[in-house]
Amino acid sequence: METLHATQTLPANTSGFVFKVSVVAALGGLLFGYDTAVIAGAIGFLEIKFGLTPVMVGWAASSAIWGCVLGAMMAGYLSDRFGRKKVLIITAVLFFVSSLGAAIPQSFTQFVLARFVGGLGIGAASMLSPLYISEIAPAKIRGQLVSLYQLAIVLGINLIYFVNFKIAAQGDSAWNVEWGWRYMLGSGTLPAFLFFVLLFLVPESPRWLIKRRRYDEALQTLEKVNGKEKAREIADEIQSALSQENGTVAELFSPGLRMALVAGIVLALFSQITGINAIIYYAPEIFKSIGFGPESAFLQTVLIGVINTVFTFVAIWLIDRAGRKTLLMWGVGGMIVCLLGIALCFQYNITQGPWLLLFILAYIACFASSLGPIPWVLISEIYPTKTRGLAMSFCTLVLWIGVVFITQFTPVLLKGEMGGAGTFGIFLINAVILLIFVWRKIPETKQRTLEEIEQSWKQ
Ligand code: GLC
Repeated sequence: METLHATQTLPANTSGFVFKVSVVAALGGLLFGYDTAVIAGAIGFLEIKFGLTPVMVGWAASSAIWGCVLGAMMAGYLSDRFGRKKVLIITAVLFFVSSLGAAIPQSFTQFVLARFVGGLGIGAASMLSPLYISEIAPAKIRGQLVSLYQLAIVLGINLIYFVNFKIAAQGDSAWNVEWGWRYMLGSGTLPAFLFFVLLFLVPESPRWLIKRRRYDEALQTLEKVNGKEKAREIADEIQSALSQENGTVAELFSPGLRMALVAGIVLALFSQITGINAIIYYAPEIFKSIGFGPESAFLQTVLIGVINTVFTFVAIWLIDRAGRKTLLMWGVGGMIVCLLGIALCFQYNITQGPWLLLFILAYIACFASSLGPIPWVLISEIYPTKTRGLAMSFCTLVLWIGVVFITQFTPVLLKGEMGGAGTFGIFLINAVILLIFVWRKIPETKQRTLEEIEQSWKQ
């Protein structure tokens, strides 16, 4: 049984189908990247338009992230109950309404509210897109397909940086204060609309359907994904792994699953507190503060985006071959070296030459090829189907709390007594803890079916 599906070669026409379906679901990631990063370009203009105090600027930036926390929290329960596809369609509506609402507000309060609504969508989609892909993907290429989601996040971040840049170049600062930021935020309606329409073309998750005893519908999709011959065998395996009752929160803490829950939470949290978004969100500020002009600060941000994209492909290429654990060990190991380099550059004021930039870029490369996609892949595959929604909600919720922390405290830490050396020193310590944890506690899950992984926790 162990390698039954792992060694299965997929018929060519079926891998095309599951690839297309995964790309549609991954658009949730594109919107995640787009809608979280849009604020970077808009915030300066909003500040002038509404005469914001520093506290209000904080709200403008964090209102969406608070929405994410709540969205992630609810999406597990809702998608267990109503289906993955239906709730994804609702997130598309939320994305659309929020982009429109944030582009035309009469008051600052309306703006914050619109962003909060968008955050609900981002938080929900951030767990549902990988979960959906994981539930439909054949074991052999599941890692690659879920990693498409991370690729989409990164592309979304790059795309909105580019869009923001182009829009800001359309007029002078008075025009931007009046209109520029509205176009930036409003532009999110386009990918949201596309996501909404395309979602109607994808099937419901076969694992959710079987859980709901809609066996025949599930079988149709499984045939398209795995070929006629294998489909029934896989459907039966899914069915026999499911007991009748629904998963409960108490079950997540049962001895068999407790470790899986801890593993998911640690990965989700540490993917944040090892500093990625301190760099992604604050790179221009960091570069400016050590004396680079605005032009070159912008160029460095572009470089970060390019490296982030290119190395996500490395993960896609290796994740089902080398495996999740091996890739994580190498990637986090590399991040540790780079974080040490960054901290030392700050400590000894070696901020002018190429070293700091090189360490930052190498850090991004290591992250993108490991800790970027792998937590999403693992948390979407290590839980049993009946508790997957709830468990992923938990992990994603913790991930977003990590984002809130980093967004809130990075600027304070960087400017405070800690400075760059202390701030990156903390990320360094966290990365070391993570490496030890991965080495000791994370199982390898490559090329195993979700049901085989579920069995292994019971043992
Ligand atoms: C991962 C992180 C996300 C980050 C992104 C950057 O998806 O979860 O917070 O912004 O990578 O590439």
